[in-house]
Amino acid sequence: MGSFLVTGGTGQIGSFLCEELVGAGHRVVCYDSKPNADNIGRIADRVTVEAADVTDSSDLLQVMKRNSVDTVVHLAAMVLLDSMKRPAKAYQVNIMGTNSVLEAARLLDVKKVVFASSVSVYGSLATRRVGVADEGDTPNPPPDPYSTTKMATELMGRYYRESYGMEVNCMRITAAWGPGRYWGYTGQFNEFIRRAAVGEDATFPADFSYSQEKLRWMYVRDVGYCFAYVSGIPKTAGYLYNLGVDAPFNHNDVLRALGEVIPGRRFEAKEIDSPTKVSATIAGPNGLDVDCGKLHNELGFRPRFGLKEAIADMVAFERARAGKKPS
Ligand SMILES: NC(=O)c1ccc[n+]([C@@H]2O[C@H](COP(=O)([O-])OP(=O)(O)OC[C@H]3O[C@@H](n4cnc5c(N)ncnc54)[C@H](O)[C@@H]3O)[C@@H](O)[C@H]2O)c1
Repeated sequence: MGSFLVTGGTGQIGSFLCEELVGAGHRVVCYDSKPNADNIGRIADRVTVEAADVTDSSDLLQVMKRNSVDTVVHLAAMVLLDSMKRPAKAYQVNIMGTNSVLEAARLLDVKKVVFASSVSVYGSLATRRVGVADEGDTPNPPPDPYSTTKMATELMGRYYRESYGMEVNCMRITAAWGPGRYWGYTGQFNEFIRRAAVGEDATFPADFSYSQEKLRWMYVRDVGYCFAYVSGIPKTAGYLYNLGVDAPFNHNDVLRALGEVIPGRRFEAKEIDSPTKVSATIAGPNGLDVDCGKLHNELGFRPRFGLKEAIADMVAFERARAGKKPS
């Protein structure tokens, strides 16, 4: 049994990771500056929640020491749209927060640190060569605060791994979809499935400039499982791994699967105005395909959910959350 610290542990990915970890019998401290009671409610009696900030090194060290933490998963960050609204804060939280985590892990000699980056560091098709991006490519992030801070943390993590011999892994996430976020970049996608699940009007937000593309987004339960899986590997050959599904899908696949999970209703795609249009243009994959084979081939990771199973799981989750009977 391990003792985990999960920063951003009550966020969308964090809450599913914590659920995975407590399910496997680990002790878990959720370290989050603004704990999201809705996300963490389902496991609140099985985790310790510390309402604290990753930029506060002293709090972080104390919490880690008090709980004899041996493994850290660092997810706390200001995400894309927030970073664009408050860039100065984003530089501080994303860059200096990651430094606090790595320093605390170094000083306390923890076994492993796994942290989240984003495929946005590859850049969009506007800034990079056409083709599939893989871990061997030189990143070319657009100059938005989110992508640049993620790039900085990747370099920082590599430095700690190579200079101090620490076991640090960086996961470049394509995107996580599923319950827990209903706004922003992937939020509209999630909101569409939530509305469909609970019987509300649901139109697929086809204004995603990437909606016709093959997406490698991973269901959030599998993303949580993936972080748990990687943090359980004592030593990996590589430092960074793209995190996405091997079998990509597009929005027609989503509509088809949803129709199978909720028979008798027709779901359509329609262009609607949304902030995702902006984000996809600035930093989203925007047509960029990302090779996620290294995660699957080198680390042996296999997601537990196919697209249809994931949609069925989310539909059941949202119905339970809304207090609706399964149909
Ligand atoms: N969800 C995705 O599709 C996606 C894609 C690429 C990368 N990522 C990365 O994965 C990580 C987790 O993403 P998520 O979608 O779960 O985000 P989220 O916004 O749902 O969760 C982030 C959590 O971090 C907490 N947090 C923010 N600032 C903090 C601070 N200073 N100190 C402590 N906690 C703080 C927030 O309160 C929140 O609970 C982030 O690093 C994000 O950049 C996510």
